[in-house]
Amino acid sequence: MDKLEDLISEARVAFDSATEIAQLEQVKARFLGKSGALAQLRKGLASLSPEERPKAGARFNDVKGSIEQLLGDRRDAIQAKALAARLEQEKIDVTMPGRDRASGGLHPVTRTLERVTTLFRSMGFDVADGPEIETDFYNFTALNQPADHPARSMHDTFYLEGEQHLLRTHTSPIQIHYMEQHRPPVRVIAPGRVYRVDSDATHSPMFHQLEGLWVDQTATFSDLKGVVREFLRNFFEIEDLEVRFRPSYFPFTEPSAEIDMTFKDGWLEIGGCGMVHPQVLRNVEIDPEQFQGFAFGMGLDRLAMLRYGVNDLRLFFDGDLRFLRQFA
Ligand code: FA5
Ligand code: MG
Repeated sequence: MDKLEDLISEARVAFDSATEIAQLEQVKARFLGKSGALAQLRKGLASLSPEERPKAGARFNDVKGSIEQLLGDRRDAIQAKALAARLEQEKIDVTMPGRDRASGGLHPVTRTLERVTTLFRSMGFDVADGPEIETDFYNFTALNQPADHPARSMHDTFYLEGEQHLLRTHTSPIQIHYMEQHRPPVRVIAPGRVYRVDSDATHSPMFHQLEGLWVDQTATFSDLKGVVREFLRNFFEIEDLEVRFRPSYFPFTEPSAEIDMTFKDGWLEIGGCGMVHPQVLRNVEIDPEQFQGFAFGMGLDRLAMLRYGVNDLRLFFDGDLRFLRQFA
């Protein structure tokens, strides 16, 4: 039976030499497999006499148990070692400083735009959108401003190749787009980016306007004043806000006015407005004998300036985070 003792130590050495589970399984086959050493021994039992067989059988079972035990121990050891290595590798130092998540904020003009949109929605206005690259027709001609009209010179802009396309100089072309698609009654605002060859403390080459249009059978200039005043009062949250309507001229409204608000020691123009010119209505096939209305176009950046007390409008677009963070 020394042969059996030898088999146990042989198995121990063989199992110990395996350093990974897969390797261990291979070694296992040599001892415990179908044609392994133990299977061979079991076959030998059959040739023993009936008297010898029980004792030899018990001995065989002991040896088999020992080898299985060795295998199990080795398997546990290999797994424990692998786990320890993995824990070591994936160790996290909970005392390390955390990684800050950069938090963004809305741009002050975006905030203004959202606030303005909410207020006008609550007054029953629809919200529309239009292209920033316009045709000469929508930006000027359809707004009663033909090619030779002197008022075009106040809207110098960036022309694209061919001069039929340009960066829109105001949001008023959306009036035309909207009325081409909707019959009166029309009550809509349209905020968006516009472009002009302009730059000083209250002018930026890219800025934002908010167009408003109300057309039905009875809308009057006093409705226009009421809507604008009501909006500005809500926007600035000042009950006795000073607003001035100053007579002016636009080819697409008649009569026309500028909307001014107090700023520093004087007035700051925040928008233009007026009664929609009958020719504009005819251009979109609306009968001016039947319908009338008003329109306005306000500078959103100017509204933001006044609300936040900023004295140079260009600061909004310089991209200086020290400035912008104050609004986040
Ligand atoms: C217009 O653009 C007309 N379309 C407004 C209008 C609409 C009148 C509907 C009648 C009916 P104006 O050029 O005045 O008007 O510009 C309107 C407002 O945009 C100005 O009052 C000002 O608040 C703002 N604005 C004009 N140019 C600039 C600029 N370069 N930078 C920042 N804001 C500007
Ligand atoms: Mg103006």
